[in-house]
Amino acid sequence: AANKKLLVLPGDGIGPEVMRETRRIIDWMARRRSLSFEIEEGLVGGAAIDAEGTPCSDTTVARAKAADAVLFGSVGGPKWDSLPFEQRPELGILRLRQELGLFANLRPAVVLDPLVDASSLKPDVVRGVDIMVVRETTGGVYFGEPRGVETLPDGKRRGFDTDVYHEDEIIRVARVGFDLARKRRGKLTSVEKANVMQSGRLWRAVVTELHKAEYADVELQHMYADNCAMQLCSRPKQFDVILGSNLFGDVLSDLAAALTGSLGMLPSATLGAIDPATGKRHALYEPIHGSAPDIAGKGIANPCAQMLSFAMLLRWSFGFEDEAKLLEQAVEKVLAGGLRTADIMQTGMARVGTGVMGEAVMRELEKLTA
Ligand code: NAD
Ligand code: IPM
Ligand code: MN
Repeated sequence: AANKKLLVLPGDGIGPEVMRETRRIIDWMARRRSLSFEIEEGLVGGAAIDAEGTPCSDTTVARAKAADAVLFGSVGGPKWDSLPFEQRPELGILRLRQELGLFANLRPAVVLDPLVDASSLKPDVVRGVDIMVVRETTGGVYFGEPRGVETLPDGKRRGFDTDVYHEDEIIRVARVGFDLARKRRGKLTSVEKANVMQSGRLWRAVVTELHKAEYADVELQHMYADNCAMQLCSRPKQFDVILGSNLFGDVLSDLAAALTGSLGMLPSATLGAIDPATGKRHALYEPIHGSAPDIAGKGIANPCAQMLSFAMLLRWSFGFEDEAKLLEQAVEKVLAGGLRTADIMQTGMARVGTGVMGEAVMRELEKLTA
C-alpha cells in the first residue's frame, strides 16, 4: 500500500510522554502488520511558543493539511498561563481545528469491563456504558464574534463572548451524529439550552427538521444540557449518541469520561468534510485530556487515551478496522490482566508507570497476533 502520511504533534506536559508509547505502537503496526507510514513530527502549543514564538506556525498548518492524518498530544501548562489570550498554547489546537475545517469531534466513552470498579459511580450504573459524544468544534462560543474584555467609562471591566451557529454548521455536524446513531443503537440525544438561548432554539429546530427529512428511522430525543449532565451521572445507559455544541460537547465529554474511570482512557477523532473530488477528509486524533501539569514529568500518565486515539486514526482515516480492533483489544487485555496507572488504580491491582503500560500493550499485541 502507498505510504500514509502522519503528522505527529506531541505538544506539552504529558503529551510527549504518552506519545512516546504510541510511537512504539505505530512502529509495531508498521513492522508486524505491514502498514507503511511516513511520519513527520512537529511542535505545537507551549513547545512551539518556546521554539518558534507561536503556538501553531503556518508551516505546521501547511504540514497538517498535507498529511493524511494528524496525531495530536496535548497543549498548555502553567509556564504559559500568564501569556496574553491571543498567544496561549491552547490556540494551537483551536487553529488546527479551524484551518483544517475539523467540525465534528467524536468522543467515545466506553466503560471497559475491567474498569467497572475504577469508576466513581456504582458498578451497576456504569457497566456496559457505550456513549458517543459528537461535539461541534469549529463554531459556537469558541470562535463567535464579538468577544473580548473592555473597560467601561466607569473604569469597570466587561468580558463577553458570542455563541453563534449558522444552520449549515448545525446540519453538517448533526448529520455526523445521525449517521453514527444509525450504525450504532439508533438513538440520538441532541443537547442545547433552547429554553434560554437563541442559538439553542435554532439548534433544536434545525435538528428536528433534518430528522424529519432524512433520519426518521433514528430515535431523536432533545435534552437540555444541564439535565443531560445530571442524566449522565444517574442513568448513563440511556444514551447512545449525544450531539452538542462546541462548549456543551466539551463539558459533557469530560463528564462522560469520568464514568469510564479516567480522562486518561478516552480518545477522540476530529473530522472535516469529505472532499467530493478526492473522497478524502482532514482528520486529527487526540486524547480528550490535557497536558496534566500536576503529573507531567513523573512518568505516571496513562498512555491509553493516546494509544486509543491512534486506533481511531487507523479506523477513521484508513479503514484499518482489524488493526484498530487489535489495539483496542490489547489495551483491554492489559487492564484485564491487572495493570493500572495511578489514575485508574484499584485495590489488588498492580500500579505501573507510563512506560510499563506501553510495554504491556506491545506484548499483548504480540500475543494476540502470535
Ligand atoms: P487535564 O485534562 O490536563 O487534567 C485534568 C486531571 O486529569 C488532572 O488531575 C490530570 O492529572 C488528570 N489526567 C489527565 N490526563 C491524564 C492521563 N493521561 N493519565 C492520568 N491522569 C490524567 O485538564 P486541566 O488540568 O484542566 O488542564 C491542564 C492544561 O491542559 C491546561 O493548559 C488546559 O488548557 C490544557 N488542555 C489541553 C487539551 C488539549 O490539548 N486538547 C485538553 C484539555 C486541557
Ligand atoms: C479539549 C480542550 C480544548 C477545548 C482546549 C485546550 C482548547 O479542553 O480538547 O477538550 O476546550 O476544546
Ligand atoms: Mn476539554
